[in-house]
Amino acid sequence: MTDRELIQAAADASKNAYAPYSGFAVGAALECTDGTVFTGCNVENAAYGSTMCAEQAAVAKAVSEGRRSFRRIAIVSASGKEYCMPCGSCRQVLSEFSPDMEVLAVRGDGRYVSYALDELLFHSYNRDNLLR
Ligand code: THU
Repeated sequence: MTDRELIQAAADASKNAYAPYSGFAVGAALECTDGTVFTGCNVENAAYGSTMCAEQAAVAKAVSEGRRSFRRIAIVSASGKEYCMPCGSCRQVLSEFSPDMEVLAVRGDGRYVSYALDELLFHSYNRDNLLR
């Protein structure tokens, strides 16, 4: 799948966002190393802290379908003037499975930037800290 196709999948997913509080609809498209793509959108809650980010929705779908190895994720918000970067919590959740995956952060006008996740979450706390 091309970058543009993955970005389009994320943009399509953002149309399902449930974001009545922020009005900030986000879509994510997560490509696994076997080529499968799982999408997600943000799901807000009246108890704000119970909100789920688009990336975490996509990860939950992938892991619950047996995928734990990711190649790329595209993150889109049509309303954003800035590149839609993953929040710290999403960086951590993605890093659990694929610390060196690629992150495509997309702007409302379709331009995007690409980072390796381990640039965005340098010297991460991870499973190696826990395993003895
Ligand atoms: N949001 C995401 O879906 N992903 C991120 O990485 C950052 C923030 C959502 C959460 C909330 O519904 C809205 O954007 C405003 O913060």
